[in-house]
Amino acid sequence: MMTDSQFVKSFSIMIIALIVLALILIALGVVIGGSIDDKLRAQTEEYTQRIIAQRTQPVGDLNVGEIADEGTTVAMANSTNAQVQATSSQSGESETSTGHPGQAVYSKYCYVCHDVGLTGAPKPGDAQNWGPRIEKGIAVLYDGAINGFQGQRGIMPPKGGVSMLSDEEVQAAVDYLVELVQ
Ligand code: HEC
Repeated sequence: MMTDSQFVKSFSIMIIALIVLALILIALGVVIGGSIDDKLRAQTEEYTQRIIAQRTQPVGDLNVGEIADEGTTVAMANSTNAQVQATSSQSGESETSTGHPGQAVYSKYCYVCHDVGLTGAPKPGDAQNWGPRIEKGIAVLYDGAINGFQGQRGIMPPKGGVSMLSDEEVQAAVDYLVELVQ
């Protein structure tokens, strides 16, 4: 039989051992957790910078680049809509010279999520992912891209989060993505 004092002694030893173990685990947690945190913070920071750089670039930038390619007059430089009309009215020509008119929009604003398939964003040319979406009809895809779309894996923000884009520009980018898999 254990006496009371024997019990108290072994019990205190056990408690102390457990406290020491807890402290070791806490220290370990801080060390490991700290390095994961740093990595995550660095990644998030980089991603945020990229998004900010994209969303804060001058509106005229897109147009000037396009217009230089299209050889259209500089008078259109500040009108996004005019630029889209210009590209679509010359679509025969632009098809051969610069590719699809929606490509410029895509590669400026949409690629951030879609190129890497972030939270389920369908990648360009991924026929398996695009197939069932295209079956819903182009009008549904336009609507999802313009007004936003909640899918099974993630959220497509309205106009990809770039509210200054016109509906026509977003539609052109959708056309571009759809044509890639057709
Ligand atoms: C912030 C990330 C993000 C950006 C930027 C983004 N998308 Fe998306 N998009 C998504 C995600 C995520 C999905 C898929 C959601 C799902 O199906 O789970 C998606 C889905 C779509 C779909 C399919 C919708 C449907 O009905 O299945 C289209 C079309 C689309 N995006 C077009 C665009 C266009 C055009 C742009 C640029 C103007 C763009 N996206 C920019 C995240 C993004």
